[in-house]
Amino acid sequence: MIPSQRHLFDIPDDIAYFNCAYMGPLLKAARAAGHTGVDRKSLPWTVSPVDFFTESEKARSLFAELIGATANDVAIIPSASYGLAVAARNIPLKAGQKILLLEDQFPSNVYCWQQRAHDSGAEIVTVSTPADHDWTSAVLNAIDENVALAALPHNHWTDGALLDLVAIGEKLRAQGAKLVLDVTQSLGAMPLDLARVKPDFMIAAVYKWLLGPYSLGFMYVAPEHQNGNPLEYNWLNRKGSEDFAGLVDYVDDYQDGARRFDMGERANFALMPVAVAALEQILDWGVANIQGTLTQKTRDIAARCERLGLTSLPDERRAGHFLGLRQTDGLPKNLLETLLKENIYLSVRGSSLRVTPHLFNNESDSDRLLMALENIL
Ligand SMILES: Cc1ncc(COP(=O)(O)O)c(C=O)c1O
Repeated sequence: MIPSQRHLFDIPDDIAYFNCAYMGPLLKAARAAGHTGVDRKSLPWTVSPVDFFTESEKARSLFAELIGATANDVAIIPSASYGLAVAARNIPLKAGQKILLLEDQFPSNVYCWQQRAHDSGAEIVTVSTPADHDWTSAVLNAIDENVALAALPHNHWTDGALLDLVAIGEKLRAQGAKLVLDVTQSLGAMPLDLARVKPDFMIAAVYKWLLGPYSLGFMYVAPEHQNGNPLEYNWLNRKGSEDFAGLVDYVDDYQDGARRFDMGERANFALMPVAVAALEQILDWGVANIQGTLTQKTRDIAARCERLGLTSLPDERRAGHFLGLRQTDGLPKNLLETLLKENIYLSVRGSSLRVTPHLFNNESDSDRLLMALENIL
Protein backbone atom coordinates (compact mmCIF):
# COMPACT_ATOMS: atom_id res chain seq x y z
CA MET A 1 0.00 0.00 0.00
CA ILE A 2 1.27 3.44 -0.92
CA PRO A 3 0.40 5.96 1.83
CA SER A 4 -1.71 8.99 0.89
CA GLN A 5 0.14 11.16 -1.65
CA ARG A 6 -2.19 14.11 -1.23
CA HIS A 7 0.74 16.41 -0.39
CA LEU A 8 1.90 16.04 -4.01
CA PHE A 9 -1.42 17.42 -5.32
CA ASP A 10 -3.23 20.68 -4.77
CA ILE A 11 -6.48 19.24 -3.45
CA PRO A 12 -8.06 21.11 -0.50
CA ASP A 13 -9.04 19.01 2.53
CA ASP A 14 -12.74 19.69 2.00
CA ILE A 15 -12.75 18.30 -1.55
CA ALA A 16 -13.41 14.56 -1.90
CA TYR A 17 -12.48 13.90 -5.52
CA PHE A 18 -13.29 10.39 -6.72
CA ASN A 19 -13.40 11.18 -10.43
CA CYS A 20 -10.14 10.14 -12.09
CA ALA A 21 -12.11 8.36 -14.81
CA TYR A 22 -13.43 11.81 -15.74
CA MET A 23 -10.18 13.73 -15.35
CA GLY A 24 -7.07 13.12 -13.25
CA PRO A 25 -5.65 16.14 -11.41
CA LEU A 26 -2.13 17.39 -12.15
CA LEU A 27 0.63 16.83 -9.64
CA LYS A 28 2.08 20.06 -8.24
CA ALA A 29 5.37 19.16 -9.93
CA ALA A 30 3.62 18.64 -13.28
CA ARG A 31 1.80 21.96 -12.99
CA ALA A 32 5.09 23.75 -12.25
CA ALA A 33 6.67 22.07 -15.28
CA GLY A 34 3.73 23.27 -17.38
CA HIS A 35 4.11 26.84 -16.14
CA THR A 36 7.76 26.78 -17.15
CA GLY A 37 6.73 25.35 -20.53
CA VAL A 38 4.21 28.14 -21.16
CA ASP A 39 6.67 30.80 -19.97
CA ARG A 40 9.19 29.63 -22.54
CA LYS A 41 6.88 30.67 -25.35
CA SER A 42 7.25 34.26 -24.12
CA LEU A 43 10.98 33.89 -24.68
CA PRO A 44 11.19 32.17 -28.08
CA TRP A 45 14.90 32.92 -28.35
CA THR A 46 15.37 30.30 -25.61
CA VAL A 47 13.78 27.62 -27.81
CA SER A 48 16.37 26.11 -30.12
CA PRO A 49 15.82 23.58 -32.94
CA VAL A 50 17.10 20.72 -30.78
CA ASP A 51 14.28 21.47 -28.29
CA PHE A 52 11.78 20.33 -30.92
CA PHE A 53 13.05 16.82 -30.20
CA THR A 54 14.47 16.53 -26.68
CA GLU A 55 11.38 16.81 -24.43
CA SER A 56 9.10 14.83 -26.74
CA GLU A 57 11.70 12.05 -27.04
CA LYS A 58 11.99 11.99 -23.26
CA ALA A 59 8.20 11.64 -22.93
CA ARG A 60 8.19 8.93 -25.60
CA SER A 61 10.88 6.97 -23.73
CA LEU A 62 9.09 7.28 -20.39
CA PHE A 63 5.84 6.04 -21.91
CA ALA A 64 7.74 3.17 -23.53
CA GLU A 65 9.25 2.27 -20.16
CA LEU A 66 5.78 2.33 -18.59
CA ILE A 67 4.37 -0.19 -21.07
CA GLY A 68 7.51 -2.31 -21.52
CA ALA A 69 8.23 -1.30 -25.12
CA THR A 70 10.96 0.71 -26.82
CA ALA A 71 10.70 4.39 -27.74
CA ASN A 72 10.67 3.31 -31.40
CA ASP A 73 7.29 1.63 -30.82
CA VAL A 74 5.58 4.77 -29.53
CA ALA A 75 3.86 7.63 -31.39
CA ILE A 76 2.77 10.93 -29.87
CA ILE A 77 -0.89 11.76 -30.45
CA PRO A 78 -3.30 14.53 -29.35
CA SER A 79 -6.23 12.32 -28.31
CA ALA A 80 -7.43 8.74 -28.14
CA SER A 81 -9.63 9.34 -31.18
CA TYR A 82 -6.58 10.39 -33.22
CA GLY A 83 -4.72 7.18 -32.36
CA LEU A 84 -7.80 5.08 -33.07
CA ALA A 85 -8.16 6.79 -36.46
CA VAL A 86 -4.54 5.80 -37.24
CA ALA A 87 -5.32 2.21 -36.30
CA ALA A 88 -8.54 2.22 -38.33
CA ARG A 89 -6.66 3.55 -41.35
CA ASN A 90 -3.97 0.87 -41.19
CA ILE A 91 -5.84 -2.37 -40.60
CA PRO A 92 -7.07 -3.94 -43.85
CA LEU A 93 -10.76 -4.82 -43.89
CA LYS A 94 -12.88 -6.57 -46.49
CA ALA A 95 -16.62 -6.77 -47.08
CA GLY A 96 -18.13 -9.48 -44.91
CA GLN A 97 -15.46 -9.29 -42.22
CA LYS A 98 -16.38 -8.37 -38.65
CA ILE A 99 -15.20 -5.72 -36.21
CA LEU A 100 -15.84 -6.65 -32.56
CA LEU A 101 -16.80 -3.92 -30.08
CA LEU A 102 -18.40 -3.95 -26.63
CA GLU A 103 -21.90 -2.70 -25.88
CA ASP A 104 -21.77 0.88 -24.54
CA GLN A 105 -18.09 1.22 -25.43
CA PHE A 106 -16.59 4.72 -25.33
CA PRO A 107 -17.61 6.56 -28.56
CA SER A 108 -14.05 7.45 -29.68
CA ASN A 109 -13.54 3.69 -30.06
CA VAL A 110 -16.81 3.22 -31.97
CA TYR A 111 -17.23 6.03 -34.51
CA CYS A 112 -13.94 5.33 -36.33
CA TRP A 113 -14.97 1.70 -36.79
CA GLN A 114 -18.46 2.64 -37.98
CA GLN A 115 -16.83 4.77 -40.66
CA ARG A 116 -14.41 1.98 -41.64
CA ALA A 117 -17.26 -0.52 -41.75
CA HIS A 118 -19.21 1.84 -43.97
CA ASP A 119 -16.23 2.34 -46.32
CA SER A 120 -15.13 -1.32 -46.50
CA GLY A 121 -18.39 -3.26 -46.27
CA ALA A 122 -17.23 -4.87 -43.02
CA GLU A 123 -19.77 -5.38 -40.27
CA ILE A 124 -19.71 -4.13 -36.67
CA VAL A 125 -20.56 -6.84 -34.16
CA THR A 126 -21.37 -5.43 -30.73
CA VAL A 127 -20.86 -7.91 -27.90
CA SER A 128 -23.82 -7.51 -25.51
CA THR A 129 -23.26 -6.86 -21.81
CA PRO A 130 -23.17 -10.36 -20.29
CA ALA A 131 -25.57 -10.98 -17.41
CA ASP A 132 -22.73 -12.48 -15.36
CA HIS A 133 -20.38 -9.59 -16.30
CA ASP A 134 -17.94 -12.09 -17.79
CA TRP A 135 -16.87 -9.95 -20.74
CA THR A 136 -13.89 -12.19 -21.44
CA SER A 137 -16.03 -15.26 -22.21
CA ALA A 138 -18.51 -13.12 -24.15
CA VAL A 139 -15.75 -11.71 -26.37
CA LEU A 140 -14.03 -15.11 -26.77
CA ASN A 141 -17.35 -16.63 -27.87
CA ALA A 142 -17.83 -13.89 -30.45
CA ILE A 143 -14.45 -14.49 -32.14
CA ASP A 144 -14.79 -16.56 -35.29
CA GLU A 145 -12.98 -16.84 -38.63
CA ASN A 146 -14.78 -13.75 -39.98
CA VAL A 147 -13.53 -11.46 -37.24
CA ALA A 148 -10.85 -9.16 -38.66
CA LEU A 149 -10.27 -7.18 -35.49
CA ALA A 150 -11.47 -6.40 -32.01
CA ALA A 151 -11.25 -2.84 -30.69
CA LEU A 152 -11.46 -3.04 -26.90
CA PRO A 153 -10.59 -1.47 -23.55
CA HIS A 154 -8.86 -3.22 -20.63
CA ASN A 155 -11.86 -2.35 -18.45
CA HIS A 156 -15.27 -0.95 -19.34
CA TRP A 157 -15.48 2.82 -18.88
CA THR A 158 -18.91 2.73 -17.22
CA ASP A 159 -18.37 0.26 -14.38
CA GLY A 160 -14.77 -0.99 -14.48
CA ALA A 161 -15.69 -4.48 -15.77
CA LEU A 162 -12.45 -6.26 -16.61
CA LEU A 163 -11.36 -8.08 -19.75
CA ASP A 164 -8.64 -10.74 -19.88
CA LEU A 165 -6.69 -9.29 -22.77
CA VAL A 166 -4.10 -12.08 -22.78
CA ALA A 167 -6.77 -14.73 -23.50
CA ILE A 168 -8.58 -12.49 -25.99
CA GLY A 169 -5.34 -11.54 -27.78
CA GLU A 170 -4.36 -15.19 -28.07
CA LYS A 171 -7.65 -16.24 -29.66
CA LEU A 172 -7.64 -13.28 -32.05
CA ARG A 173 -4.11 -14.12 -33.21
CA ALA A 174 -5.07 -17.74 -33.73
CA GLN A 175 -7.76 -16.49 -36.17
CA GLY A 176 -5.38 -14.06 -37.83
CA ALA A 177 -7.35 -11.13 -36.40
CA LYS A 178 -5.98 -7.86 -35.01
CA LEU A 179 -6.30 -6.31 -31.56
CA VAL A 180 -6.69 -2.55 -31.05
CA LEU A 181 -6.79 -1.29 -27.48
CA ASP A 182 -7.98 1.95 -25.98
CA VAL A 183 -6.48 1.82 -22.49
CA THR A 184 -7.30 5.42 -21.53
CA GLN A 185 -9.31 4.16 -18.53
CA SER A 186 -6.62 1.87 -17.16
CA LEU A 187 -3.05 2.62 -18.23
CA GLY A 188 -1.03 4.07 -15.39
CA ALA A 189 -3.33 2.59 -12.75
CA MET A 190 -3.44 -1.08 -13.77
CA PRO A 191 -0.58 -3.20 -15.10
CA LEU A 192 -0.82 -4.49 -18.67
CA ASP A 193 1.49 -7.23 -19.89
CA LEU A 194 2.30 -5.96 -23.37
CA ALA A 195 4.52 -8.94 -24.24
CA ARG A 196 1.63 -11.36 -23.58
CA VAL A 197 -1.31 -9.26 -24.79
CA LYS A 198 0.51 -8.38 -28.04
CA PRO A 199 -1.83 -5.64 -29.30
CA ASP A 200 -1.43 -4.29 -32.82
CA PHE A 201 -2.19 -0.74 -31.70
CA MET A 202 -2.62 0.45 -28.13
CA ILE A 203 -3.80 3.97 -27.40
CA ALA A 204 -4.06 6.10 -24.26
CA ALA A 205 -5.05 9.72 -23.70
CA VAL A 206 -3.02 10.94 -20.71
CA TYR A 207 -5.50 13.23 -18.96
CA LYS A 208 -7.07 10.60 -16.72
CA TRP A 209 -5.04 7.82 -15.06
CA LEU A 210 -1.74 9.06 -16.45
CA LEU A 211 -2.30 12.35 -14.56
CA GLY A 212 -1.22 14.27 -17.65
CA PRO A 213 -2.51 17.29 -19.55
CA TYR A 214 -5.57 17.41 -21.78
CA SER A 215 -4.84 17.17 -25.56
CA LEU A 216 -2.00 14.67 -25.38
CA GLY A 217 -1.70 10.91 -25.63
CA PHE A 218 0.57 8.08 -26.73
CA MET A 219 0.12 5.13 -29.04
CA TYR A 220 2.01 1.85 -29.08
CA VAL A 221 2.35 0.46 -32.61
CA ALA A 222 3.50 -3.14 -33.06
CA PRO A 223 6.62 -3.39 -35.27
CA GLU A 224 4.69 -5.02 -38.14
CA HIS A 225 2.55 -1.86 -38.53
CA GLN A 226 5.38 0.64 -38.32
CA ASN A 227 5.55 1.18 -42.07
CA GLY A 228 1.88 2.18 -42.30
CA ASN A 229 0.18 5.43 -43.36
CA PRO A 230 0.08 8.37 -40.94
CA LEU A 231 -3.00 10.57 -40.71
CA GLU A 232 -1.09 13.73 -41.55
CA TYR A 233 2.08 14.47 -43.43
CA ASN A 234 4.07 16.80 -41.26
CA TRP A 235 7.70 17.86 -41.58
CA LEU A 236 8.84 16.89 -38.09
CA ASN A 237 8.41 13.15 -38.49
CA ARG A 238 10.39 12.97 -41.76
CA LYS A 239 13.98 11.69 -41.81
CA GLY A 240 16.58 14.36 -41.12
CA SER A 241 14.11 16.98 -39.84
CA GLU A 242 16.67 17.88 -37.16
CA ASP A 243 18.43 19.90 -39.87
CA PHE A 244 16.12 22.92 -40.19
CA ALA A 245 18.18 24.45 -43.00
CA GLY A 246 17.65 21.32 -45.11
CA LEU A 247 13.87 20.96 -44.69
CA VAL A 248 13.11 21.92 -48.28
CA ASP A 249 15.17 18.95 -49.46
CA TYR A 250 11.96 16.92 -49.29
CA VAL A 251 12.41 13.27 -48.41
CA ASP A 252 10.18 10.22 -48.62
CA ASP A 253 11.60 8.53 -45.56
CA TYR A 254 10.22 8.92 -42.06
CA GLN A 255 11.88 9.09 -38.65
CA ASP A 256 12.36 5.65 -37.10
CA GLY A 257 9.62 3.28 -35.98
CA ALA A 258 6.23 4.59 -34.91
CA ARG A 259 7.38 8.24 -35.12
CA ARG A 260 5.84 8.44 -38.60
CA PHE A 261 2.43 8.46 -36.86
CA ASP A 262 3.30 11.43 -34.61
CA MET A 263 0.85 14.32 -34.74
CA GLY A 264 1.97 17.64 -36.21
CA GLU A 265 3.59 20.01 -33.69
CA ARG A 266 4.30 17.10 -31.40
CA ALA A 267 7.06 19.06 -29.65
CA ASN A 268 4.21 20.76 -27.73
CA PHE A 269 6.41 22.96 -25.54
CA ALA A 270 3.72 23.76 -22.98
CA LEU A 271 2.17 20.35 -22.40
CA MET A 272 5.03 17.90 -22.96
CA PRO A 273 6.87 18.84 -19.72
CA VAL A 274 3.62 18.20 -17.83
CA ALA A 275 3.40 14.69 -19.26
CA VAL A 276 7.07 14.05 -18.48
CA ALA A 277 6.66 15.03 -14.81
CA ALA A 278 3.53 12.87 -14.48
CA LEU A 279 5.11 9.82 -16.14
CA GLU A 280 8.21 10.12 -13.92
CA GLN A 281 6.06 10.11 -10.78
CA ILE A 282 3.93 7.17 -11.96
CA LEU A 283 7.06 5.16 -12.75
CA ASP A 284 8.44 6.05 -9.33
CA TRP A 285 5.29 4.85 -7.54
CA GLY A 286 5.09 1.74 -9.75
CA VAL A 287 1.86 0.79 -11.54
CA ALA A 288 1.46 -2.49 -9.62
CA ASN A 289 1.72 -0.57 -6.33
CA ILE A 290 -0.83 1.98 -7.55
CA GLN A 291 -3.22 -0.80 -8.53
CA GLY A 292 -2.71 -2.60 -5.20
CA THR A 293 -3.45 0.57 -3.24
CA LEU A 294 -6.49 1.61 -5.28
CA THR A 295 -7.86 -1.93 -5.12
CA GLN A 296 -7.84 -1.71 -1.32
CA LYS A 297 -9.59 1.67 -1.42
CA THR A 298 -12.37 0.59 -3.79
CA ARG A 299 -12.91 -2.75 -2.00
CA ASP A 300 -13.37 -0.93 1.26
CA ILE A 301 -15.86 1.51 -0.31
CA ALA A 302 -17.69 -1.34 -2.11
CA ALA A 303 -18.10 -3.31 1.11
CA ARG A 304 -19.46 -0.29 2.99
CA CYS A 305 -21.79 0.60 0.09
CA GLU A 306 -23.25 -2.90 0.01
CA ARG A 307 -24.87 -2.21 3.38
CA LEU A 308 -26.63 0.76 1.72
CA GLY A 309 -28.04 -1.42 -1.07
CA LEU A 310 -25.47 -0.32 -3.64
CA THR A 311 -24.05 -3.26 -5.55
CA SER A 312 -20.88 -3.55 -7.60
CA LEU A 313 -19.20 -6.17 -9.75
CA PRO A 314 -17.46 -9.02 -7.92
CA ASP A 315 -13.78 -8.24 -7.29
CA GLU A 316 -12.56 -10.74 -9.89
CA ARG A 317 -14.74 -9.16 -12.59
CA ARG A 318 -13.62 -5.54 -12.20
CA ALA A 319 -10.46 -3.46 -12.38
CA GLY A 320 -9.16 -2.61 -8.90
CA HIS A 321 -8.99 1.15 -9.53
CA PHE A 322 -12.53 1.40 -10.89
CA LEU A 323 -15.76 0.93 -8.98
CA GLY A 324 -19.24 1.14 -10.49
CA LEU A 325 -22.12 1.22 -7.99
CA ARG A 326 -25.68 0.35 -8.94
CA GLN A 327 -29.02 0.31 -7.17
CA THR A 328 -31.75 -2.18 -8.07
CA ASP A 329 -34.35 0.48 -8.91
CA GLY A 330 -31.86 2.91 -10.38
CA LEU A 331 -29.91 5.71 -8.75
CA PRO A 332 -31.76 8.76 -7.34
CA LYS A 333 -32.04 11.49 -9.98
CA ASN A 334 -30.41 14.25 -7.95
CA LEU A 335 -27.61 12.09 -6.55
CA LEU A 336 -24.65 13.88 -8.15
CA GLU A 337 -26.02 17.36 -7.38
CA THR A 338 -26.54 16.44 -3.73
CA LEU A 339 -23.01 15.04 -3.47
CA LEU A 340 -21.64 18.15 -5.19
CA LYS A 341 -23.16 20.37 -2.49
CA GLU A 342 -20.90 18.48 -0.06
CA ASN A 343 -17.83 18.85 -2.32
CA ILE A 344 -17.89 15.16 -3.24
CA TYR A 345 -17.10 14.52 -6.89
CA LEU A 346 -18.12 11.38 -8.79
CA SER A 347 -19.78 10.72 -12.11
CA VAL A 348 -22.60 8.60 -13.48
CA ARG A 349 -22.15 6.67 -16.71
CA GLY A 350 -24.98 4.45 -17.89
CA SER A 351 -26.67 3.04 -14.78
CA SER A 352 -23.52 3.15 -12.72
CA LEU A 353 -22.13 5.61 -10.16
CA ARG A 354 -18.39 5.65 -10.86
CA VAL A 355 -16.03 5.87 -7.91
CA THR A 356 -12.56 6.29 -9.35
CA PRO A 357 -10.01 7.29 -6.70
CA HIS A 358 -6.26 7.87 -6.81
CA LEU A 359 -3.41 8.05 -4.35
CA PHE A 360 -4.56 11.48 -3.08
CA ASN A 361 -7.76 10.03 -1.62
CA ASN A 362 -7.61 9.44 2.12
CA GLU A 363 -9.78 7.80 4.80
CA SER A 364 -11.60 11.06 5.45
CA ASP A 365 -12.68 11.25 1.76
CA SER A 366 -14.14 7.73 1.99
CA ASP A 367 -15.91 8.47 5.27
CA ARG A 368 -17.46 11.63 3.85
CA LEU A 369 -18.60 9.77 0.73
CA LEU A 370 -20.19 7.00 2.77
CA MET A 371 -21.89 9.39 5.16
CA ALA A 372 -23.32 11.43 2.28
CA LEU A 373 -24.58 8.30 0.46
CA GLU A 374 -26.18 7.08 3.69
CA ASN A 375 -28.05 10.37 4.02
CA ILE A 376 -29.26 10.37 0.41
CA LEU A 377 -30.27 6.73 -0.06
C1 LIG B 1 -12.34 4.84 -22.70
C2 LIG B 1 -12.06 6.25 -23.10
N1 LIG B 1 -11.29 6.48 -24.17
C3 LIG B 1 -11.00 7.71 -24.58
C4 LIG B 1 -11.48 8.82 -23.92
C5 LIG B 1 -11.13 10.18 -24.43
O1 LIG B 1 -11.22 10.18 -25.83
P1 LIG B 1 -10.63 11.34 -26.73
O2 LIG B 1 -9.18 11.44 -26.37
O3 LIG B 1 -10.88 10.86 -28.11
O4 LIG B 1 -11.37 12.58 -26.38
C6 LIG B 1 -12.30 8.63 -22.79
C7 LIG B 1 -12.88 9.78 -22.06
O5 LIG B 1 -13.75 9.65 -21.23
C8 LIG B 1 -12.59 7.30 -22.38
O6 LIG B 1 -13.36 7.06 -21.30
